[in-house]
Amino acid sequence: MNELIKNINKLHTTELGAERIKRNLTLGIDDVVTWCKKCLNKADFMTQVGKNWYVYWEGKVITINAFSYTIITAHKISPKIRVMVNSDYLCLEEFLYQAIFVPEGMESPPRSIIEEPEIFVYIHDFGLKAGDLGVVAEQNGQIIGAAWTRIISAFGHIDENTPELAISLLPGFRNYGIGTKLMNKIFQLLRINGYKQTSLSVQKDNPAVKFYQDLGYEVVDEKYDHVGNNDYLMIKRL
Ligand SMILES: CC(C)(COP(=O)(O)OP(=O)(O)OC[C@H]1O[C@@H](n2cnc3c(N)ncnc32)[C@H](O)[C@@H]1OP(=O)(O)O)[C@@H](O)C(=O)NCCC(=O)NCCS
Repeated sequence: MNELIKNINKLHTTELGAERIKRNLTLGIDDVVTWCKKCLNKADFMTQVGKNWYVYWEGKVITINAFSYTIITAHKISPKIRVMVNSDYLCLEEFLYQAIFVPEGMESPPRSIIEEPEIFVYIHDFGLKAGDLGVVAEQNGQIIGAAWTRIISAFGHIDENTPELAISLLPGFRNYGIGTKLMNKIFQLLRINGYKQTSLSVQKDNPAVKFYQDLGYEVVDEKYDHVGNNDYLMIKRL
């Protein structure tokens, strides 16, 4: 149990704080503190960054002072979408793991799965090769999503001029439009770098197939990967 949950009964806010939260989230309730406690108990994700705790639930973030337990504000998540820099590369292990499709009802694979050479190639020595480009979504100092491309001999390889894309968000942040924003930003970055198309490989039964089609990807081939999953090879012209 983290310190915030342990101290949930110390949560309080000011009159101004309560008004701000009600206004930001158009909440039709009077007791903001009770509402925040409920969010805490159902939170998708919570993290302490510096002097604040950030509690995420259903596309909203609540900011709580970690020393006084004052609820400072709450608003809808609106991450900053920016180009990846060297210091972000460490987060790629997490996002590579999150990009692995887990069909509904199936158990998540062990984290060590990313060490398989066919998978690790997506991040190994990232930043050193032409075509190594990336963007991240950052909310309150925390990277919550990433999209990156590489020209590598992997499942979605087309040719030496077509960077292959991978993308994922942390689980609590999916389906709020952040993935679409990351994709549009990386398409822009690829165009600036002179690329005319980008590819990817996706399992046929991953709901992300529709996400890619909505963004202009087309299926160009179907094949089986190293463990027998049936995948689409998709291309997006830039
Ligand atoms: C795929 C992913 C990056 C999309 O980002 P996102 O922010 O969730 O997507 P957006 O909110 O921008 O777009 C939503 C669209 O994504 C699609 N989608 C993606 N994953 C979905 C899921 N698990 N369930 C339902 N729809 C999903 C839907 O088509 C939806 O469109 P709709 O709103 O018209 O129904 C994100 O869901 C994710 O990280 N998924 C897990 C990792 C993954 O599968 N990566 C791809 C590996 S090839």
